[in-house]
Amino acid sequence: MIEAKNVNFYYGNFHALKNISMQMEANTVTAFIGPSGCGKSTFLRILNRMNDLIDDTHLAGECLIDGQNIYDKSVQVDELRKKVGMVFQKPNPFPKSIFENVAYGLRVNSMGDKSFIAGRVEESLRGAALWEEVKDKLKKSAFELSGGQQQRLCIARALAISPSILLMDEPASALDPISTSKIEELMYALKQKYTIVIVTHNMQQAARVSDKTGFFMLGELVEYCDTKKMFLNPDKAQTQNYITGKFG
Ligand SMILES: Nc1ncnc2c1ncn2[C@@H]1O[C@H](COP(=O)(O)OP(=O)(O)OP(=O)(O)O)[C@@H](O)[C@H]1O
Ligand SMILES: [Mg+2]
Repeated sequence: MIEAKNVNFYYGNFHALKNISMQMEANTVTAFIGPSGCGKSTFLRILNRMNDLIDDTHLAGECLIDGQNIYDKSVQVDELRKKVGMVFQKPNPFPKSIFENVAYGLRVNSMGDKSFIAGRVEESLRGAALWEEVKDKLKKSAFELSGGQQQRLCIARALAISPSILLMDEPASALDPISTSKIEELMYALKQKYTIVIVTHNMQQAARVSDKTGFFMLGELVEYCDTKKMFLNPDKAQTQNYITGKFG
């Protein structure tokens, strides 16, 4: 479903990702862990070409989604980003109503009429486990929601345009334990329909939610395997040291 082949990435002269090759299967959750600055977010952004927005960067290697190299000249980035949605570390709702936040992507892409949009907004809010909390105040500003609710709103916004892949960069790091566990439950439910890639600094979270885990260090993918193996019996000493808190 997603395949990176010898991906190297540079910010100017700085070699941020070194020869990354990995495959992520459909309908699984893959977690990326590793010390700060090791390239997790950079690699996540490769998967929907968000790094294209940063000046003086360079990518070598291939990244395929459903067999197509997403860096091929024929690929339309707008279409790619519809297929590969993203949720960021800090909830970033638009200064609009709850309803309009979720409807936004549908409107700018001219997807459907009024009743289609209303239906999709409800479906997306249900998908993000937020509907019951907001159904009576859809016209209120998104800023009136709590941080955890805002993050679920951002997930609903990403779901509205029916992506097949959802990238999440530390989606629960700003949230309390209850909101965090809601997001974790949500990931478990969402993987029935979506392929999820999540960056997290929380080892327990990676162990709880993911099927596979990749451990990055200094721009390299040190180890990538089933999450159970990663946390019980990793192959590399560096991985063992990191997950047991000896460094990082
Ligand atoms: N826009 C940028 N311009 C130049 N260098 C960058 C840029 N973004 C990231 N880097 C560098 O690339 C490396 C990887 O950064 P990245 O943000 O991918 O790390 P990370 O693993 O996500 O870290 P964290 O856990 O702190 O979020 C770091 O050394 C960082 O300084
Ligand atoms: Mg990061």
